[in-house]
Amino acid sequence: MSCVSLIADLVLSNSKAYIKGEILECSIAIEEDKYIKIGKQPQMPNADQKIDLHGLLVLPGLIDSHVHLRDEEKAYKEDFISGTSAAAAGGFTTVLDMPNNQPLTNSVEALRNRLDIAKSRSLVNVGLYSEFPENLTELPKIRQGGAVGFKLFMGCQMGGLNLDDDHVLEAGFRVAGEVGAVVAIHAEDKTQVTFSEQQFKKVRRNGVKEFLLAHTEQAEVQAIERVLRVSEGSNVHLHFCHITSKQGLEAVKEAKGASRSVTCEVTPNHLLLTSADTARFGMMAIMAPPLRDNVHKEALFEGVIQGDVDTIGSDHAPHTFEEKTVDSVWDVKVGTPGLETTLPLMLTLVEKRMLTFRRLVEVFVEKPAEIYGLTSKGKLENGKDADLTIIDYKQHWTIDSSKFKSKAKFSLYNKWEVIGKPVKTFVNGTLIMDAGEIVAKPGEGKVIRK
Ligand code: DOR
Ligand code: ZN
Ligand code: ZN
Repeated sequence: MSCVSLIADLVLSNSKAYIKGEILECSIAIEEDKYIKIGKQPQMPNADQKIDLHGLLVLPGLIDSHVHLRDEEKAYKEDFISGTSAAAAGGFTTVLDMPNNQPLTNSVEALRNRLDIAKSRSLVNVGLYSEFPENLTELPKIRQGGAVGFKLFMGCQMGGLNLDDDHVLEAGFRVAGEVGAVVAIHAEDKTQVTFSEQQFKKVRRNGVKEFLLAHTEQAEVQAIERVLRVSEGSNVHLHFCHITSKQGLEAVKEAKGASRSVTCEVTPNHLLLTSADTARFGMMAIMAPPLRDNVHKEALFEGVIQGDVDTIGSDHAPHTFEEKTVDSVWDVKVGTPGLETTLPLMLTLVEKRMLTFRRLVEVFVEKPAEIYGLTSKGKLENGKDADLTIIDYKQHWTIDSSKFKSKAKFSLYNKWEVIGKPVKTFVNGTLIMDAGEIVAKPGEGKVIRK
């Protein structure tokens, strides 16, 4: 039966779209911010606007569940406009922003202010994490205020939970579990890391090598095991961010085997680079947790292929060039930008047959949508949000960090040759990025309130 009664705002024709695990030739009709029809061209309703995609690949909009968009008092590094422009340019339609901001996002007021700022400035959809509040009775209110989850930095004291007290952590996990909020964890053991750091500082050992010696694999594994132990009695979902070690991944696998509600993420940095790159790049490649030896890189890659790794997050961590080029490693700002390199780097692996499209869509779309309960996203299906990442998967090009939309115009992948490029990004049915340019106004992205 034809659907003459339907009228669409937009029909995208001649696409190769990823639908239920297959790449199908089809057309896509969008009305306002939702898909209304996906099928053969003759079935398409009349539309005000038509775009011929000439065989480009269409994926449900990619979700990066780990970015630091800064803004507020750290807007000199990045703000919602530049950060979400970088997201749109990199093919991401939804990003989840970490709470280590200034002011720290860990109260109802801080969250509300930040959501207001994000609402007026964002070009893609943005959800906000909160750190834990000082007083746990505040936690359900922060959740009601819209936080997509709670972040727990185990490596340094940041939010309201005293990291030195297992009982306090236990209560935090229990309360987060009661309100159905995910807890995303930066797993590094604070005691181990700070002890080593102090020892090195005393004897003025300030190089990148010392950073790696302070931020060990053991510090990661110890934090993972501690979190798993103290959260055992709660029914919280734990999402371990940026796993970097073979043993860390094994600890997560074991917890899954024991039916714990646990998932984990890796970053492209830890899949593609090693500690040899830290030696080569120096301070620019300092991130926490740091790059590891090849054996870990290979184990993580195998984890992505096998499905033990659930999501890939960019851990987009913009800093100024000055902040990255200091003399002592203990003064350097940790992290590196990633929103504009993550997808092309992974598409290159698909082109080289090292990764399948199916896994790519799982780690960037389906799993993040499932973990964070973004039920209107993650699929090309009637009624879902029309967030689309459109890719020219044959395009060979060279990464040029001087062209980034991010304020952080440097990259560990500068001058890398890659295959596959996001060429259009639609957010809620609106074209945001076209051929690398931002073509919409800030505010087109929606804020996600859980
Ligand atoms: O490399 C990192 N950068 N690790 C973190 O834990 C924080 C992040 C940032 O905010 O720059
Ligand atoms: Zn982290
Ligand atoms: Zn991070």
